[in-house]
Amino acid sequence: MTETDESEFGLSRGSFKLADVEAQDLAKLTMILDQMAQQPAVQTLRRWALEQLAPTIGETAIDVGSGTGEDVVELAKLVGPTGRALGIEPSPALRAEATRRAEALDGAEAGPWAGPVGGGGAGRGPGTVRGAEVVGGAEAVPGAGAVRGAEADGGLAGVEFVDGFAGALPLGAGSVDVVRCERVLQHVADPAGAVADMARVLRPGGRIVLIDTDWATAIVHPADPAVLQRMVDLFLAESANPYSGRQLRGLLAGAGLEITGETAATWIERQEGARQGFASMMHLAALTAGVITKPEADAFAQGLAEAADRGAFHLSLTMYAVSARKPN
Ligand SMILES: C[S@@+](CC[C@H](N)C(=O)[O-])C[C@H]1O[C@@H](n2cnc3c(N)ncnc32)[C@H](O)[C@@H]1O
Repeated sequence: MTETDESEFGLSRGSFKLADVEAQDLAKLTMILDQMAQQPAVQTLRRWALEQLAPTIGETAIDVGSGTGEDVVELAKLVGPTGRALGIEPSPALRAEATRRAEALDGAEAGPWAGPVGGGGAGRGPGTVRGAEVVGGAEAVPGAGAVRGAEADGGLAGVEFVDGFAGALPLGAGSVDVVRCERVLQHVADPAGAVADMARVLRPGGRIVLIDTDWATAIVHPADPAVLQRMVDLFLAESANPYSGRQLRGLLAGAGLEITGETAATWIERQEGARQGFASMMHLAALTAGVITKPEADAFAQGLAEAADRGAFHLSLTMYAVSARKPN
């Protein structure tokens, strides 16, 4: 695709903002999340996060802004059937998708946690909203509702997808052993409040990892610098917190947590990415927003595609991860 094709990605990129959860294009969001999940940089940071968090059998682990839920399943494998792995996710569409994916694992992956997901009982599954759940002895916020993808007696023991958001987590103080939060704070207007709330639910000695992008690290080549700048400016203006990556360490320290590690990984897009995914959505979003013209959008897409044909396309973006523990 070298011409702008508005039918391929729609007129705007998907929004992960809390304010937009009721009007989301699930197909677009899952496409973005699935593409990112395949990136080596994301996989590297996810592995690093699990090593830092080191969840153990019987612990309660949460993933704040859990998206399609795969990381909650990874936590569930480590905390085992006696532990709990909660995805806290404000988007009903993504919660339902995460539950569907967890259920689709039904017996597909052998392991101490695997088995017949959901147990086949009536009233379970994506539509099953439970009332107040008790997590680590603390009652969840009434009405928050917990969607349990499975029961402890067979299935993804302890996996739950719960309605909630960073800043008002439906969990009691000190009720959680492990918190992870990946690529969420860039969408949050009050990241300090969000991280303070994560620190609140952690027990003394509990571990936390934050992962996020810093959008100022985005490099796209080749492109007309003036056109690219307008596209980047739009992106930065549309994001609630585009410089999140550089803030992670300070947010954790500011919440009274002890920093235990930090790392970074750069996503370098494949040559095929010049014609699809993020690179395509950039210029289509900019065109829709009116910050670039149709000829500029077409020239941008054409330039990237031609560069890719020569093996000369470059798009990169750096993500950061910081780990911390709550003092005893
Ligand atoms: C870019 S996605 C990342 C999803 C997942 N963590 C991952 O790494 O694949 C951002 C997620 O944060 C969620 N989100 C947005 N605002 C949030 C908030 N205030 N609290 C918790 N989650 C939020 C979105 O619904 C979405 O699932």
